[in-house]
Amino acid sequence: MSLKCAVELEIPDIIHNHGQPITISELALVLNIHHTKVQSLYRLMCILVHSGFFTEHKISGQSDEEKGYKLTLSSKLLLKDNPFNARPFFEVVVDPIMMKPWQYVSAWFRNDDDPTAFSTAYGKPFWDYAGCEPRLNHLFNEAMASDGLLIATAVLSKCKGVFEGFKSLVDVGGGTGTITKILAKTFPSMDCTVFDLPHVVAGMEGSGNLKYIAGNMFDKVPPGEAIMLKWILHDWNDEDCTKILKLCKEAIWSKDKVKGKVIIMDMIMGKQEMDQQSIQTKLFYDMEMMVFTKGRERDEEEWSKLFANAGFSSYKIYNILGLRSLIELFP
Ligand SMILES: C[S@@+](CC[C@H](N)C(=O)[O-])C[C@H]1O[C@@H](n2cnc3c(N)ncnc32)[C@H](O)[C@@H]1O
Repeated sequence: MSLKCAVELEIPDIIHNHGQPITISELALVLNIHHTKVQSLYRLMCILVHSGFFTEHKISGQSDEEKGYKLTLSSKLLLKDNPFNARPFFEVVVDPIMMKPWQYVSAWFRNDDDPTAFSTAYGKPFWDYAGCEPRLNHLFNEAMASDGLLIATAVLSKCKGVFEGFKSLVDVGGGTGTITKILAKTFPSMDCTVFDLPHVVAGMEGSGNLKYIAGNMFDKVPPGEAIMLKWILHDWNDEDCTKILKLCKEAIWSKDKVKGKVIIMDMIMGKQEMDQQSIQTKLFYDMEMMVFTKGRERDEEEWSKLFANAGFSSYKIYNILGLRSLIELFP
């Protein structure tokens, strides 16, 4: 909440535009904050320095006490003009709509009817609610889009080969298509389809080798040589994942059924070499999945069982996306 306040006040952008460490009095001046609240602004900055969003620096020529604040790598990700900015992602997570289900988690534990705490709070599942609440739909799609640019860049610089040689690719649950637009440009001879629920792709227009299809992945997955599932399976329980994967397997077509594959981008829990902060982040993601969806984060053994249950023969993991991995899945 402290960071939300700082982002709403645009403190990261103000520090960035200042071009050098900014003191509390300079920051208060730019923010036009009443002098009785300057001490509170200092207290806000203290917690954000402690949490690693800003750093404090001595300023030469200033009195000993006056320190200046600089950005860190984390707060640089919240700058409006950073093309990789994660601000929409942060904004949706701390939005009141998304905060409300957390107030209902204990009620959900005691209630046998609701599939998720989100349903306890709103009376319907997350995706249904997003379909009838345009503000959530917009915020969520924007958040996913901001992640897509970052991931597309990482994937293309580290394992472009995974996408090479295909005539067609279908991005199942592809949102508004950020990552697929980049893939379509990078591979002009590959026909790319973004497939998602009607309220997500409404009004989206494809061009050239990119098109949008509205539908439900539990009914049918459009055919393609490569089927991509980015951040989809962690939203669903094992039974639903098996259904999705089986439909993806059916959708993989190529003359000899040899070349097709499913490309998954998701988290794998319990990767040994993780530092404490990464472990904590993965556990937080698992809680998000528990509160908002019927899904969960899975370790490699659990992933491998899902793949076998859906009839896939082998898989290969690329640990190239920080906390997430890319998994090639072969029929
Ligand atoms: C966590 S988002 C991931 C979006 C995108 N793949 C990305 O990583 O940016 C999950 C997506 O699945 C879509 N989705 C949920 N249920 C679906 C269904 N039954 N059929 C098709 N798409 C669905 C949602 O609308 C949403 O865009």
